[in-house]
Amino acid sequence: MCSLEGLYLGDNLAIMRGLAAESVDLGYADPPFFSQRNYYQLDAGGRESAKPAKPAFSDNWFWDDASELSLRRITTPDFTPQCLDLMEGLVKVLGRGGLAAYLLNQLERINELHRLLKPSGSFYLHCDPTASHYLKLILDSVFIPRGGVFVNEIIWHYRKWAVAKRKFSANHDVIFFYAKSPNYCFNLQYQDRAPSTLKTFGTKKIISAVDEKGRRIPSRTSDAESAGVKMADVWPISIIAPVAKQRLGYPTQKPEALLERIILASSNPADLVLDIYCGSGTTVAVAARLGRRWLGIDNNPDAIAMSKERVGKL
Ligand SMILES: C[S@@+](CC[C@H](N)C(=O)[O-])C[C@H]1O[C@@H](n2cnc3c(N)ncnc32)[C@H](O)[C@@H]1O
Repeated sequence: MCSLEGLYLGDNLAIMRGLAAESVDLGYADPPFFSQRNYYQLDAGGRESAKPAKPAFSDNWFWDDASELSLRRITTPDFTPQCLDLMEGLVKVLGRGGLAAYLLNQLERINELHRLLKPSGSFYLHCDPTASHYLKLILDSVFIPRGGVFVNEIIWHYRKWAVAKRKFSANHDVIFFYAKSPNYCFNLQYQDRAPSTLKTFGTKKIISAVDEKGRRIPSRTSDAESAGVKMADVWPISIIAPVAKQRLGYPTQKPEALLERIILASSNPADLVLDIYCGSGTTVAVAARLGRRWLGIDNNPDAIAMSKERVGKL
């Protein structure tokens, strides 16, 4: 049994199996997105490091004996009947190939993480449109039959250099927010007002009225200072710039501002935050800074070393 704070090197499924049920307040997962490629350490300019590049992790998937074993495990009472029906249906539709293997891998981990959540706990799954539509079905099959709630689909919107020539640039990730029960922890967050609203109304509280045709007519009758507007589900947050202080050269490293929002909204000080794909340690570093207890898992020794150093520097 793992102690309840620290970094663990190894496969997250095996490590999660050693953790106590209902011990985690907030779970976050930023797994490989099914890009069918390998990832390498980045150099100071944000490019994959000089040849021979140092591997970081693989996101290549194919169906093998381990997938057959996973499929058999889904038939046990550890999984809901909906998980089994869904996975058998997906294997039938998609065939025994890379995508089905990836989805099975995710199903087993999401199901195990669900076991670890307290009844007031939440789970955020970070993915992108490559597989988000399938992952939503998997999340539903794990959470909903057991009384869980689909809370939000968050869009993380970022700007980056456009390279696509025959499609629109892919400038967003998807983050699914689920709760284990309707009594989940949620601390309302606020965002700044849009520049146009600030120009018209300043920071005064806007009281909405409705005219005779039912149209909303904002007025600035209240003098109360406003905390901003309630945060919406589209989050414009910059990706980490090549020159940013927080950049560690780990591929797919997420910005601290993104994790800060998730942790502040879905946990309280001293709560336990678990990241099962901790990479460079973004979640654990932000959790520690915000006074939460934390647990990070990764199967890459370099990621664990980086996370250890990052938390140690706080
Ligand atoms: C997308 S990266 C996470 C990046 C991280 N959020 C950050 O900000 O640095 C995915 C990580 O998952 C790890 N990983 C992949 N499969 C794993 C598994 N089965 N068990 C544990 N870690 C795994 C990889 O080594 C990689 O570090």
